[in-house]
Amino acid sequence: PTGLRALADRADLRIGTAVDMAALADDDAYRAAVAREFNTVTAENVMKWEATEPQQGVHDWAAADRLVDFARANRQKVRGHTLVWHNQNPAWVTEEAFTPAQLRAVLRRHIIDEVTHFRGKIWHWDVVNEIFNDDGTWRDSIWLRNLGPGYVADAFRWAHQADPKVKLFLNDYNNEGVNAKSDAYYELVKQLKAQGVPVHGYGVQGHLAVQYGVPADTLTNLRRFEKLGLQTAFTEVDVRMPLPADPIKIQAQAQGFTALLQACLLADRCVSYTLWGFTDRYSWVPGVFDGEGSATPYDENLSPKPAYAALRDTL
Ligand code: XIL
Repeated sequence: PTGLRALADRADLRIGTAVDMAALADDDAYRAAVAREFNTVTAENVMKWEATEPQQGVHDWAAADRLVDFARANRQKVRGHTLVWHNQNPAWVTEEAFTPAQLRAVLRRHIIDEVTHFRGKIWHWDVVNEIFNDDGTWRDSIWLRNLGPGYVADAFRWAHQADPKVKLFLNDYNNEGVNAKSDAYYELVKQLKAQGVPVHGYGVQGHLAVQYGVPADTLTNLRRFEKLGLQTAFTEVDVRMPLPADPIKIQAQAQGFTALLQACLLADRCVSYTLWGFTDRYSWVPGVFDGEGSATPYDENLSPKPAYAALRDTL
């Protein structure tokens, strides 16, 4: 192998990207770069519940299976993303249609179906995504309202039952450093462990912005979760900036990418570092953050930016 993945192999690190399945099918340069640069991949959207079960009991695994096949052909591991979230649920999953007991059964069925479908083919599952607010309180969702916070332990147990070998992760943003949100995760992990719940990893999305910088205690935070017995991972790294880009922002961006990579390499059990898209040609950022963009290490023409060289030099 060449590219970042060859260096990551030597560092015993998995380096990854979220994959846009339309781009993978239609864009030869994109497809070549996914294979050349990365030794793990994540489905940007096609493993989310709205994609896999558009009508109750009617599954569509085709796009996700294509990614799993691509990964196998290119000797890449697959991070499964994501089983339980407040976003991108199927339209049929509503509080009007189901009682709380039925919602619990529906969620259980979903988790067992999906984890079973991919059994043996997924390296990590992001079991629950974004369950806390930045102030450390529980995020409101159909799951919290109807099942209470115990839905998290249930979700991990159901996933483990369906594939006892896969590593099961929590995942969130704004949880890089030690703060109210990561404190809430720390307390939750202690409780889950005390209850014997199969939880194996703490996922740090790593959606940074040059205007906010990188929390200086990111490594300290990873380490405290590792001391609880968890693996850690950066799962969705990008570093956006207010547009237009300029050399200072581009330099700050490179530092943002490398600060997280260094933390991962310095930690004891940080097993992967995944970009949420590697090229500005397909990044989700401009569509969601008004006036911001240029958030990935390759520009729209698939030319590397300083962040790419910075990642390479850090590995
Ligand atoms: C985003 C995708 O990148 C977009 O294509 C989609 O429209 C919305 O979701 N945190 C997550 C990811 O965990 O699943 C989100 O992905 C980005 C934020």
